[in-house]
Amino acid sequence: MNRDDLPSALALLARGLQGAVDVAGFEHLPRPIFATAPTAPTQPTSAPAPMPPAPSETPSPSAPLAGVELGELLASVTRLTAPNAEKLRILRDDVVGDCTRCKLHRGRNKLVFGAGNPQARLVFVGEGPGADEDREGIPFVGRAGQLLTKMIAAMGLSRDEVYICNVVKCRPPNNRDPERDEVDACEGFLRTQLAILQPEVIVGLGRVANHALLRTQTPISKLRGSWQRYEGIDLMPTYHPSYLLREERDPQQSKKREAWSDLQQVMKRLAR
Ligand code: URA
Repeated sequence: MNRDDLPSALALLARGLQGAVDVAGFEHLPRPIFATAPTAPTQPTSAPAPMPPAPSETPSPSAPLAGVELGELLASVTRLTAPNAEKLRILRDDVVGDCTRCKLHRGRNKLVFGAGNPQARLVFVGEGPGADEDREGIPFVGRAGQLLTKMIAAMGLSRDEVYICNVVKCRPPNNRDPERDEVDACEGFLRTQLAILQPEVIVGLGRVANHALLRTQTPISKLRGSWQRYEGIDLMPTYHPSYLLREERDPQQSKKREAWSDLQQVMKRLAR
């Protein structure tokens, strides 16, 4: 979604969609809320032609970055006078690089930095890559990712219009929760991604993401559905798609209904 575009969510809202969900696993619920055809996971958006920032502001890839304190480096990337796509590229290639800052790098196949529109008004933050994401280097491409893609489609958006990333960029072994030191090691990268993107809304997916972003221990069942603030940005906590997938046998689909209600609040905020 480009900042210039009125979100197609507006059109959906105008059609008066009320409270029904149809995502795979949401199919027991009345149409047409998530009633879009499944969308194939997107490749990361390719960066537009680079517009080099002023030399004095650029952490040159060939400079000995090892000597520069990470916090300083991250702040300088945020401050660059360059398109978001270029700032994200510099963050990915020149700062995160072939990261070995925590133990997760040892089991990693591919680092999963993030994907989507560098001008996105809406950013989804998940927990960390799973096996599929680790193999492909793209966030949310496995089963949970397919559900997320359909949730995004139900909002009248595509993955190309939003940005998707995770709290930790490398897969925790056996899909365990990321540990405190791992979240801490990656936190600066996530903060910098969000500082560059400056979206209008962040959706925090699940307990791990919301606890990391909001620095709270409040259960996700209590956090979800109520607007929070992250560094001056509106943040809507909701359930993680993996959690929603576990609800498949519940005929009430109550958590999916709650998640859809959370996403509807997001659509309304973006339509303002
Ligand atoms: N779960 C997440 O939290 N992130 C992914 O990228 C995939 C699954």
